[in-house]
Amino acid sequence: MTANPAPWDRRHLLGLEDLSAGDITALLDLARELAPHSTRSSRKLAALAGRTVVTMFYENSTRTQLSFQLAAQRLSADVLPFTKAGASVAKGESLLDTVRNIEAMGVDCMVLRHPAAGAAARVASRVQCSVVNAGDGQHEHPTQALLDLYTLREVLQERRDPRGIGDLTVAVVGDLQHSRVARSNLWGLRRLGARVLAVGPATLVPSGFREMGAVICHDLDEALGQADAVNMLRVQYERHEGQAGFPPRAEYVRRWGLTRERLDRAKPDLIVMHPGPVNRGFEVSPEVADGPRSVILRQVRNGLAVRMAVLRTVLAAP
Ligand code: NCD
Repeated sequence: MTANPAPWDRRHLLGLEDLSAGDITALLDLARELAPHSTRSSRKLAALAGRTVVTMFYENSTRTQLSFQLAAQRLSADVLPFTKAGASVAKGESLLDTVRNIEAMGVDCMVLRHPAAGAAARVASRVQCSVVNAGDGQHEHPTQALLDLYTLREVLQERRDPRGIGDLTVAVVGDLQHSRVARSNLWGLRRLGARVLAVGPATLVPSGFREMGAVICHDLDEALGQADAVNMLRVQYERHEGQAGFPPRAEYVRRWGLTRERLDRAKPDLIVMHPGPVNRGFEVSPEVADGPRSVILRQVRNGLAVRMAVLRTVLAAP
């Protein structure tokens, strides 16, 4: 288990690096309490009535953007969706000018996705309202990791498995270097005491992951032999920018793709996760993505309750 950081002020959620094991567990517990209210048939909760949440997406998003908006609505907040396309960003307005102007309209929380690492922290240091990081470059994506942890915990409970997350070995596989999901997963899993295998080609697994507490492994079959859960990451081509060292597609699939044949060598109850969007036939084969061990859509569903918990926590902070 990694040492806990300085106390979290709860006003912003910028990264899991800032959260202690207790903070993470409290968010997961609150998400579980809110889960019955996250579904279509349930009545909205009044918790955030009169509060305004703006979702600011400077990068593409399907799951994260929609589930933050839905989560805010299920808590009765007013939701303002903002995307880079169509906004005055195209006229050259900077991020800080944009957020100051939006804040001047009286919003309570900004949910921000931005291609620059550290963008959410910069914004948080300049505004009075809460800021939630919905992905900043290749740095962190805290709500994705929280929903991954929530899903792991839920599966263990459903199986009546007495183990907790801290008893698991989790393999995070693929393009770790460019993945904010990998970094947030690593912080969260290590804080809760899990053993983390950082698995992928040497060119895509930075040695810094070892300092963050992971065991680096360059053989997927070896990792699968030990793992209780595997988190398959998408290859982040948009962040490669002509960088050398990426194996040819066929070789990547052969060495790092999760196929049914490969699963035969894993533990029978392996949990297969993926943050989406899935490149079928690349990092995961279609029959694995849709197969009985996959919890990919469950992760998406759990994202709602987890984001409700996050919005409620940051907006309740003093
Ligand atoms: C991830 C992201 O944007 O970082 N997607 C997501 O939020 N579910 C992962 C990815 O794009 O591969």
